[in-house]
Order: sequence, then C-alpha cells, then structure tokens
Amino acid sequence: MIKTPLDGKIVRQKINEMKVKSVGLASIRELNRIVSNIEATTGQKFIRMEMGVPGLDPPEIAVQSEIEALKKGVGSKYPPFDGIPELKTEISRFVKLFMDISVNPEGCFPTVGAMQGCFLAMMVTSCFKKGKEKILFIDPGFPVNKKQARALGLQSEHFDIYNYRGERLRSKLESYLKKGDFAALMYSNPNNPSWIVFTETELKIIGELATKYDVVVMEDLAYFGMDFRKDYSQPGKPPFIPTVARYTGNYILIISSSKSFSLAGQRIGMTAISNTLFTSTGDNLLNYFDSNMFGRAYIFSGIYTLSSGVSHSAQFGLLALLKASNDGDFNFLEPVKEYARRAKVMKKLFLENGFKLVYDMDEDQPIADGFYFTISFPGFSGEELVEELLFYGISSISLAITGSDRLEGIRACVSWTDSSQFPVLEKRLQQFRTDHESGFRAREVYSTVK
Ligand SMILES: Cc1ncc(COP(=O)(O)O)c(C=O)c1O
Repeated sequence: MIKTPLDGKIVRQKINEMKVKSVGLASIRELNRIVSNIEATTGQKFIRMEMGVPGLDPPEIAVQSEIEALKKGVGSKYPPFDGIPELKTEISRFVKLFMDISVNPEGCFPTVGAMQGCFLAMMVTSCFKKGKEKILFIDPGFPVNKKQARALGLQSEHFDIYNYRGERLRSKLESYLKKGDFAALMYSNPNNPSWIVFTETELKIIGELATKYDVVVMEDLAYFGMDFRKDYSQPGKPPFIPTVARYTGNYILIISSSKSFSLAGQRIGMTAISNTLFTSTGDNLLNYFDSNMFGRAYIFSGIYTLSSGVSHSAQFGLLALLKASNDGDFNFLEPVKEYARRAKVMKKLFLENGFKLVYDMDEDQPIADGFYFTISFPGFSGEELVEELLFYGISSISLAITGSDRLEGIRACVSWTDSSQFPVLEKRLQQFRTDHESGFRAREVYSTVK
C-alpha cells in the first residue's frame, strides 16, 4: 500500500468539508482555505504554490515613511480622491523613467490595489460609448478580473493566446474587435498565470487594432518590470518596460505595488490614463457619471463612489518608494529577483520528475523565470492534477479557471517557497513520479472517505 506524504484520509476529509464541486476547479481562496485546514490538522507544511502572495518583506523606506505620516496625523484627514499631489507627480515620473511614456500627473493616481484599478477601468470604459460595452480578455488571465466583469454585469469574451502568438494575433484579435461592441480589452503582462510576456510585435498589433476599432486597452502591469531577462531597473535608461502605450493613445496602465514593491498588505496600486483618453468625451458617460469627460468621470464619479481614494498613510509609503526609485536611490527590482532564482530551481525539479512546461515560449524565446510557471503531468487534466498533488503536500491552481484552453495545465506560484523547502519539494516530486508511474491514483484510493 502506497503511503502519500500527507495522510490521504485527512486530505480527503478536509476537501469534503469545504463542499466545493471540484477541488481542482476551486477558486484560489477556497483552495487556500482547504490547504490551511489540512496543514492545521496534519501539522505538516505544504509547498504552497496556489496563491500569488509576495514572500518578501516590505521595503523599509515605505514602512518608515508611512509611520511618519501616521505620526503627523494624516490618519484623521480624508486624502484627495485622486491622490496627494506629490504622489501623482511621482507616478507620472515613474511611468516616464521606467517605461518612457509621458502621462500628465492629472491622469496618474493611486487605487486600492491594482484590483480596484482593474475594477474601475472596466466600470468606466464600459459606460464610455454607446454600443460599446463588452470586455475582451486576452487569456490566460487572473480569474478575479472575470469575477469583476460579472459583478459589474458586463458581458465579456475571451480567447487563449497560446495558438496566436506573434503575427497570428492580428487576425484573431481583429475577429473580435471588428464586431464593434467592445469597450475595452484586458491582459496582464508579464502574464498571470503563464508568465508569458508579449513581444513588441504583439504589443504593436494590440495597439494598432485598439486605435482602429476605438477600444481601450487596460494593460495590467501587476508584475511591473519583473521579466528578468532584461534589466529594467535603471531609471531613465533603456531598456524600457514593454507597453502597448508605445502603439496607441487608447490605454490605461494599471500597476500593482504588491509584487514589484512587496506592498500587498497596504492595498495600494497605481493607474495612469493616457493624456488623449483622459480628455476624451464619450456619449454614454452622462448616463452613469457626472461628467462626459473620461478622466473626470473616472475620478469624480468612479473613484469617489468606490472608495473615495486610498488610505492616506499608504500613499506616503508608496510616495517615498517611488521617489527613491525614480531618483535612482533604490533598485526596486533587485529584491524581487529572488522569485526568478526560485522559479529556476523549482521548474527544474518539476521537469526532472516527469512534468512538462505548458506555456513555454514567447514566440522564439523561452519564457522568463519569474513569479509563476505552468506545468502538466502525463495522464492528468489540470483539475485532476491539482487534487492529486494535495495528497503530496503541494498546492496549485488549475489553468481551467484562468480562461486557458490548456486544460492539462496547472499554475505554480513560487513566492511562498524558499530555498529551505526545495529538498522537501524534490522528495515529494520524486515520490509523485514513482507512485504514478506504477499507476497509483490517490484521488481514487481515498475517494470513499467521508
Ligand atoms: C494580473 C493581476 N492583476 C491584479 C492583481 C491584483 O493586484 P493588487 O494586489 O495590486 O490588487 C494581481 C494579483 O495577484 C494580478 O496577478
């Protein structure tokens, strides 16, 4: 009788207790809860790859600046909806210095995480012009964005980019946009979950078609600058971070501070709306908002109604960090290179033990090592693999919940696994391989446990 690294009965019981239809298709937060429950009962630690949580400490500059601001009493005062003026200026400088894109400070503001940034972008773009209300997701993608679209009552369509890399993207994307009813399109770059990065050819196609069909590009830069194949860490010096903003004036840049700056807990991100879009008017805005000007509607109706701005002290934390990065006093990408080091080792361990990479190339270049990678194991769907790996103390999510067509795949996030856990991961993967080569299936063996 094969003994899995974690007690199979407990694993099954904890899965059952959560009452999800299929654990392999559970949401990230549900899986997170199941895994925590298994850990608490068995006393054994998982290799936790299900959730994209930064595994590093927040930078001291941000912590100190926030403490000082709180001591000065900002906690009792409402911040401006669209951010304190110094922060708006630093966001505009940040975009200029690291992306070589000029956005007026007026169109730059903090949001409650990129999460709110995405929500706001969908909320306002979908009310911008009559007859253009749908959202197109270039997938695979961050599952929560689809939940946001649904919560807003928006219709959306999506396609998996896997078979449409490079020039092939043009006709595929055009087949959607030419219908004329899309308000906006969204993707993340580098991509969550696959860690592909769009090439300049692809960004150019997206930009050109966005202009042609009057569609707003919501470019989610949640992993800002974290493609470590190139060094994007020097302010004002090339190479600059790739962006669609070089190819269209129809864009909203949504930047997270959670991963690049390890500030997830402070719930502060940034949005930069292109100067052209900010001052554009739309014939549908007044049906929902108080201004027919895009930028005004965004700030004075959108941000106002959602949260009336971002925590005052968090703005000071981010401000200090941006200023230090912009002035070249703090290399924000240096600490987070750790994720690439982890990915390199973890990918190797999986590949040595019979797994295969699913999304593996950016056109003709192997994908970078970074926050996520995607894998499969012969004979399993992603849904099955997520469940089977739980018995081996390894948690992940299925690509099926990310809009991917690669249903054999799962997403691994490296952020919570430090080098001290690599030997455990290796041992568990070796056992996984041996057990499964002999036809063992833990899911089946423990299927009747109540
Ligand atoms: C693609 C993508 N967009 C947005 C977010 C949310 O970022 P934030 O923590 O800034 O709200 C995440 C977080 O994982 C993400 O992966």
